[in-house]
Amino acid sequence: MQNIAIQVKDLQKSYKKLNVLKGVNFTVEQGSIFALLGSNGAGKTTLINILTTLLKQDSGTAIVNGFDVASKPDHVRQSLSLTGQSAAVDEILTGRENLIMIARLRHLNQPRQVADELLTRFGLTDAATRRVSTYSGGMRRRLDLAMSLVGTPPILFLDEPTTGLDPEGRIEVWKVMKELADGGRTVFLTTQYLDEAEQLADHIAILHEGRILASGTLTELKKLFPPAKTEYVEKQPTLEEIFLAIIGKKEVLQ
Ligand SMILES: Nc1ncnc2c1ncn2[C@@H]1O[C@H](COP(=O)(O)OP(=O)(O)OP(=O)(O)O)[C@@H](O)[C@H]1O
Ligand SMILES: [Mg+2]
Repeated sequence: MQNIAIQVKDLQKSYKKLNVLKGVNFTVEQGSIFALLGSNGAGKTTLINILTTLLKQDSGTAIVNGFDVASKPDHVRQSLSLTGQSAAVDEILTGRENLIMIARLRHLNQPRQVADELLTRFGLTDAATRRVSTYSGGMRRRLDLAMSLVGTPPILFLDEPTTGLDPEGRIEVWKVMKELADGGRTVFLTTQYLDEAEQLADHIAILHEGRILASGTLTELKKLFPPAKTEYVEKQPTLEEIFLAIIGKKEVLQ
């Protein structure tokens, strides 16, 4: 049996009269990519905030890396990194300085080297010494993601990590997430891009009206629908394929 990275049981949360989570249950296996889907306002960020100890639940339990979020918040925090829905980068510092700062906060031995490796990985080397206030939205997003990879927390929470990235950037982030999971880390992400969940996730859960309505692998979810009919359809390239071909990046995630 696989080890469990996250276990959520009957989690409930209301903001005054607004009942957002009405009894959420799921488990996430260690080393897997878990995608949480849900419409705007479904409660995805609320759930992430509870799992990362930024917010307290009203009732129910959540265990992250073996620690209860309510009784062992410090241990939980040491087990994870969080990339929130809006970028949490320091505008006044350069990209490189932001990364070095996090590496120092995480007590890493060679903060500069760690920063430079991540800058290369996320295509930010040319912009490394510029203040973040001069970055584009996508560059900020990349830097934010790079910052969450500093150190080796076993669990990564990514709230809509690819929102605002160009197709090339999205594919790069997908690759990074796959590498992380292959290396044994657990990735918990939310996304509005269903193709992203389809490409990446080992396990998909759909949050709707306060509960997990469906949960399983893509194959399991597909079984909820009648068997596919065979139809003749002319295969046209998608706009994304055309875009990537035009800018000379034909790479497609395996
Ligand atoms: N601090 C708060 N006080 C009151 N209501 C809140 C608070 N935070 C969130 N909400 C409400 O709770 C609901 C769930 O919000 P949440 O941000 O968790 O949704 P989400 O699934 O992350 O949505 P999105 O896809 O837009 O990011 C929304 O109706 C939101 O308005
Ligand atoms: Mg959200």
